Amino acid sequence: MKKIISINQNIDSFKKNIISVDGDKSISIRFILLSSLSSGKCVATNLLKSEDVISAIKSIKKLGIKIKLKNKSCEVTGRGLHGYKFKNKLILNAGNSGTTARLICSVLVNSPKWVKITGDESLKKRDMERIIKPLKLFGVKFKNKNKKLPILIKGTKFLSPIQYNEKLGSAQCKSAVMIAALKTKGKTKLKCLPSRDHTERMFKNVLKVPIRTIKKKNYDIIEIDGLNEFKPFNYKIPGDISSASFFIVLTLLTNKSSLRIKNVNINPSRTGIIKVLNMMGSKIRFLNKRNYKGEKVSDIYVKSNKNLKGISLNPKFNSAAIDEFLLIFLIASVCKGVSTFKNLGELNKKESRRLDWGIRILKMMGIKILRIKNNGLKIWGQPNLKLKKNFIIKNYLKDHRIFMVSTIAALTLGGNWKIYDAKDSFKTSFPSFIQILKSLGAKIQ
Ligand code: S3P
Repeated sequence: MKKIISINQNIDSFKKNIISVDGDKSISIRFILLSSLSSGKCVATNLLKSEDVISAIKSIKKLGIKIKLKNKSCEVTGRGLHGYKFKNKLILNAGNSGTTARLICSVLVNSPKWVKITGDESLKKRDMERIIKPLKLFGVKFKNKNKKLPILIKGTKFLSPIQYNEKLGSAQCKSAVMIAALKTKGKTKLKCLPSRDHTERMFKNVLKVPIRTIKKKNYDIIEIDGLNEFKPFNYKIPGDISSASFFIVLTLLTNKSSLRIKNVNINPSRTGIIKVLNMMGSKIRFLNKRNYKGEKVSDIYVKSNKNLKGISLNPKFNSAAIDEFLLIFLIASVCKGVSTFKNLGELNKKESRRLDWGIRILKMMGIKILRIKNNGLKIWGQPNLKLKKNFIIKNYLKDHRIFMVSTIAALTLGGNWKIYDAKDSFKTSFPSFIQILKSLGAKIQ
């Protein structure tokens, strides 16, 4: 079915000033996987009910775990580190979700049977080598072509602990090793580039399994002692800062507006977008900060601000803003001055070739942009940018963030936009996106 949204009017001021966004995707998927390994009933509230999380739920259910999705909560009855029960020739489909595909392999490291893991058209293009390599060192077997999905995985009873150097700064790779380590007798040691650290925080504060983390200047060391069963737990999942970011940028670019976004996870390994925008001059604030199970949660307050200045971003901020670069490029295109970004190769390994798409969208908008060495970009901002042309966005491999960033551009910069989204891509990570935009007064047909 052809689904297209049309936008030909900026949102001029907001109908309300307080919103909440859907639950955090990374934490929701981790909750589903880790609770299935606990020794009893775990309950999450505000779990993200998006397609990516549903893919994780369906996969874990096929492993013999009871999961009840209720209106406000999700109940998972864990069966311990060795409790999965499933039939031969099992196929798990991770849909569009890279986190599900990669982390599901780590819960299967002790599986006595071959399991096939597959995904949608976009996921089948993504690299699985990053988790195959370390999991093989534990003793896990794989069969696959080109290190991409579909893959077959078979675990072993005789897992051996590993020492691994993670060089991509991938939280999914790091977490896959950590979860495999949980099922492995002995000490696994991981040296890794910094990346989001929800798994470390859950291990330490929620599961309370033996873990040691040391933060060095440019890398982290993580040590885990495996084979410690852990008790069931409950989790109140905070809002997702990656989803909040679309509304932060919408507010910055909308005249005379302000917005308070309630209960958002502001883990420092995720708040790169706020740091970048504040370096550009945005004055975004955290209100009512509190701690929750080792994570930081707060409301985010943002006001219109079109007087932002370009930035030469130190790549040390890349990892904490990894999912927000399309929004950062959009802001850079209306800033005063030139912005420079480097080492963004990982963006082309997301749901689509996202770096290439960012360039394509900005070029369509008439922004001067140059690709520089080391997967870098230079963007010449146009502070008075007012678009007038027709814009068509399509064929972006169900990359939810391309759909959402185009929608924000369409609602703030003028022009007549037609954004194709046959598969409702935003439902993979942020099902309430359109509904919240409409509640603020956005005219979307
Ligand atoms: C995620 C890690 C990041 C991020 C993705 C979610 C996670 O991917 O882009 O949206 O939940 O661990 P990488 O680990 O590939 O950087």
